[in-house]
Amino acid sequence: MGLTTALTEMFGVTVPIANAPMGGSAGGALAAAVSDGGGLGMIGGGRGDLAWLDREMTLAARSTEKPWGVGFLSWAIDIAVVDWVVERRPAAVMFSFGNPDLFVPRVRAAGIPVLVQVTDLDEAGRALDLGADVVIAQGGEAGGHGGSGWATLPFVPAVVDMAGPTPVLAAGGIADGRGVGAALVLGAAGALIGTRFQASAEALVASEVSKALVDAGGADTERSRVTDILRGARWPSRYPARTVRDEHVERWRGREDELVEDLAAQRAFRAEKRGLPLWAGQSVELITNIRSATELVARLADEAESALIRAYPN
Ligand SMILES: Cc1cc2nc3c(=O)[nH]c(=O)nc-3n(C[C@H](O)[C@H](O)[C@H](O)COP(=O)(O)O)c2cc1C
Repeated sequence: MGLTTALTEMFGVTVPIANAPMGGSAGGALAAAVSDGGGLGMIGGGRGDLAWLDREMTLAARSTEKPWGVGFLSWAIDIAVVDWVVERRPAAVMFSFGNPDLFVPRVRAAGIPVLVQVTDLDEAGRALDLGADVVIAQGGEAGGHGGSGWATLPFVPAVVDMAGPTPVLAAGGIADGRGVGAALVLGAAGALIGTRFQASAEALVASEVSKALVDAGGADTERSRVTDILRGARWPSRYPARTVRDEHVERWRGREDELVEDLAAQRAFRAEKRGLPLWAGQSVELITNIRSATELVARLADEAESALIRAYPN
């Protein structure tokens, strides 16, 4: 049957799946592994640490002949970072969270397709007005940062209806081929997947993180600003992060404004020098193993085809 979509045609890939550009953990090895599996591999450029990016982009370029891209946090970068990455000619550049107005035209002018991840209809409209080549509709089930208003199931078709000919990817809550098939049924041209690829052999995470992702259930996750406030992460308040709930989230839930003022509590948290929070979406429920990302992409594609055939036998 094959899963040819506007996404696969735009990038010359065979599977309509991209990994999320997860800052710090989606490095060159993960991007190359996803691309080798037939998807669109993405490096998580986050806030634009150029030394890290240089290393990871070099690794991706050495590891695969297939196309791969780089993603950034719009609120945390400046145009110099965009110019730097454009000069290195990745196959795609993605922007999430914040205002990409300055960045999208610059990348498009260089002839590189731009993906913009959006969390509500206003952001979707702005991304389309800017000329985004692909819009990624992220629902609140998603792992990591995002909006909390929309769920993926209604948000994706709403953005598809707005987008006309512009391809839309579904993000949030997709960890197996059934989810990929559902995204296609909603009118998306594919899926952008984070949590499932965080639990892959190539993600740059400690083995305790992989184990915790296998052990966690979807009901253990919660979207909250608490950990960002405690660690002084300066994330815009409209993008709380979904993590596996911990004692800090339990303690400060509903008291975020108080926590912003409580510098002693923030200092105490930073003095503990804890690792990063365990960012994970509700789809963590579906993750029972750690696999190579190349194998995962192939499985997701096969499962999606089977799910679609099961749903539409004729
Ligand atoms: C561990 C983790 C880190 C993430 N970091 C980023 C990031 O740096 N930039 C970004 O655009 N999205 C990031 N995201 C969000 C993804 O782009 C995507 O919306 C989300 O993973 C989709 O939902 P899923 O986790 O249910 O697949 C992250 C997600 C996770 C799970």
